[in-house]
Amino acid sequence: MIQFTVEDFNGERQTLEIPEGISLSLMEVLKGSDYNILATCGGMALCATCHVQVLEGGDALPDLNDAEGAMLDTLPDAGSDSRLACQLRVDETLQGAVFRLRGAE
Ligand code: FES
Repeated sequence: MIQFTVEDFNGERQTLEIPEGISLSLMEVLKGSDYNILATCGGMALCATCHVQVLEGGDALPDLNDAEGAMLDTLPDAGSDSRLACQLRVDETLQGAVFRLRGAE
């Protein structure tokens, strides 16, 4: 199982356990776990409503891809620890990470 923690818009934390090999993005898993993120663009790195801040575990994540980096550059509240959940695959690189939801509800 892959375990990571999500801090919601109210600051409440919950640890999710996801089976390995599900081949879903973090955005898809968050929506499937009833987190209220819009993901308006459906995972195309175009809307930034799936913006998350990586509080722990960022070093293990894959580098930003070009589309993700370009989108994050347009966000006034993005920082060096920002990622787009739709561009992160749920795999062992997320093990132990802590994500804070930042996108629009
Ligand atoms: S779902 Fe739109 S940028 Fe991630």
